Amino acid sequence: MTSDRLIFGVDVGGSGIKGAPVDPVSGELTTKRHRIPTPQPSTPDAVAATVNEIVRHFAWSGPVGVAVPAVVQAGVVSTAANIDDAWIGTDARELLSATTGQAVRVLNDADAAGIAEVRYGVAAGVPGLIVLLTFGTGIGSAAVYNGRLIPNTELGHLQFKGMDAEDYAAARLVERDEMDLEVWSRRVGEYLRYLERVLTPDLFVFGGGISKRFAEISSWLDVATPVIAAELRNNAGIVGAALAGVDTDGGADEQSESRENR
Ligand code: BGC
Repeated sequence: MTSDRLIFGVDVGGSGIKGAPVDPVSGELTTKRHRIPTPQPSTPDAVAATVNEIVRHFAWSGPVGVAVPAVVQAGVVSTAANIDDAWIGTDARELLSATTGQAVRVLNDADAAGIAEVRYGVAAGVPGLIVLLTFGTGIGSAAVYNGRLIPNTELGHLQFKGMDAEDYAAARLVERDEMDLEVWSRRVGEYLRYLERVLTPDLFVFGGGISKRFAEISSWLDVATPVIAAELRNNAGIVGAALAGVDTDGGADEQSESRENR
């Protein structure tokens, strides 16, 4: 397979690393994604080897975008809330490019999902400030203003109720700790109302695996700003990563340029 028309994205998650070629016109995966469990510990070298396995699985040759659950500036990772601490300070772009032999760009996983939803999903063509939140093990966030990503917002780590917001309202409380869905949804509502006061978004996009229960969840949110469920669900990270792999509009490359030009 060549990269003449397709693009390629990989999404590094806490439990699985998934990748697939993507059609840049439709934003759809052109074939079933390939998933490999995240190595434990999820050190940079172990994750890079797994990303390489996925690239090789598709015999992919061409640019690759990789989404990771961390702050990424100019390819360098600077936080590690839900991956191995060894990532902090790692030049992920350099490591992954060297391991795969391809030109790799790296960005935050929620930012990738945000780009994907704005380009192909529920937020396509919506003007103003869109805040996408991914509810999973942690809370990821993407802020997009008039189609432009403001990267690395990390709204899941705002202090809320005396703790990290993601410790108060991540979906793991339901999925792993068996919190009642209504209790959790009301917590999410409180958090969204807080974000409303701080950011005044025009739209919230509600993402993460738990969004498949959005019909129930939304009845308990009680938020003035419109909240809609993400559309691309599990594939948003792959699709957004693939776009960032080739597209400076994603914000990832632009940041690196501004750094390099300093
Ligand atoms: C991380 C973010 C990430 C989110 C979702 C948070 O704990 O700090 O960078 O986007 O989890 O994976």
